[in-house]
Amino acid sequence: MIVAYPQLISLCLLISVISVDAGRPGGLEFKKVKFCEFPHDETARVKISPWPFIPSGKPGNITITFTPAVDVFAATLQYEVKSDGHIVARGRDNVCHKFPELCSLPAGETYVWTYSDVMRAIPPGFKMTIRGVVELYNEERVVFVCLDVVATIH
Ligand SMILES: *[C@@H]1O[C@H](CO)[C@@H](O)[C@H](O)[C@H]1NC(C)=O
Repeated sequence: MIVAYPQLISLCLLISVISVDAGRPGGLEFKKVKFCEFPHDETARVKISPWPFIPSGKPGNITITFTPAVDVFAATLQYEVKSDGHIVARGRDNVCHKFPELCSLPAGETYVWTYSDVMRAIPPGFKMTIRGVVELYNEERVVFVCLDVVATIH
């Protein structure tokens, strides 16, 4: 199994799915990034830079703007990544220790969250198209951010 799952704690999931030594120049090419139907949030924006391709070894930023409809005192990240209908990664983690700023959000206030990381190396010849759904929910299990992402790793 080439895919490794250790970094999926954060919304960097799509920047960090692969952990292998150097290979030919590859990277992560986004095909689609959108918010899930629920929750409805007029302010919801996602910006990925560089777009739509983050080359291996290069830094990338993900900025998410959202307005939680509920107070958030604790946040849990839940993700599921599929390729060809098969689950390649799935998990759930409390994010407060790593991203405390996501764990004290007042309802109705717009928040901008940026994550920066360096794209991991992709093994030579590796290619995989993935679809991932990432949800953040609060201590009452109300989802306040949900992203639906399709990308190709190559
Ligand atoms: C990521 O964000 C930092 C800080 O705003 C900025 O200096 C950098 O140029 C950005 N990198 C990319 C690839 O957009």
